Amino acid sequence: MNIHQTSLKPEASNFNVNTGLSNSYRENISETLSEILAMSYSLTIKSQIYHWNVVGPLFKPIHELTEEHYNNLFAAIDVIAERIRALGHLTPMHQSLVSKMIGNDEAGDEITPEAMIEDLVSSHEEVIRKMRDAIGEAGKSSDVVTEDMLTERLNFHEQAIWMLRAIIAN
Ligand SMILES: [Fe+2]
Repeated sequence: MNIHQTSLKPEASNFNVNTGLSNSYRENISETLSEILAMSYSLTIKSQIYHWNVVGPLFKPIHELTEEHYNNLFAAIDVIAERIRALGHLTPMHQSLVSKMIGNDEAGDEITPEAMIEDLVSSHEEVIRKMRDAIGEAGKSSDVVTEDMLTERLNFHEQAIWMLRAIIAN
C-alpha cells in the first residue's frame, strides 16, 4: 500500500487547545495517527475481502477470525479519528485517500489461505511498528490518552497475529 505522506497531513482545526500539549506535538501526533487510521482502514478492507474469498479446509477459521477482526478494526477507526479531532485537528478522510487505501490489487486476487494469513500478519505487524513508535512519542509528551488508546490497539493487533498464525501452525 502506498500512502503519500502529504495527503495524510491532518488539517488544523480552528479552535484553540490549551491542555498542556504543544501545538507542534499535536500536529505531529495527529499526522502519525492519520497514518494509523489509513492503515487500519486498509486492514479492515483486506480482512473483509479475505473473509469473503477464502476457500478450502481453512475456510471456517479464517472466515470467522477475519470477521472478528474487521468488526474490531471498524470500531477502532472511529476511536482513532475522534482522537485526532480531540487533539484539535481534522481527519484527512478525503475520497482520494480512501481510493489509495483500497488500491491493493493483491487482495482481490485468488491467493491461498496460507498466503492470506501471511499477508494479514504482515499488515498487522506494519501497523504495530507504527503504533509502537507513536506510543513512544505520546509518552514523551505525557499524552496519556493517546498512549492508552494505542496500547489497547497494540494489544488487539498482537493478539490478532497470534490467532492468525495459530490457524496455519503445524
Ligand atoms: Fe460475512
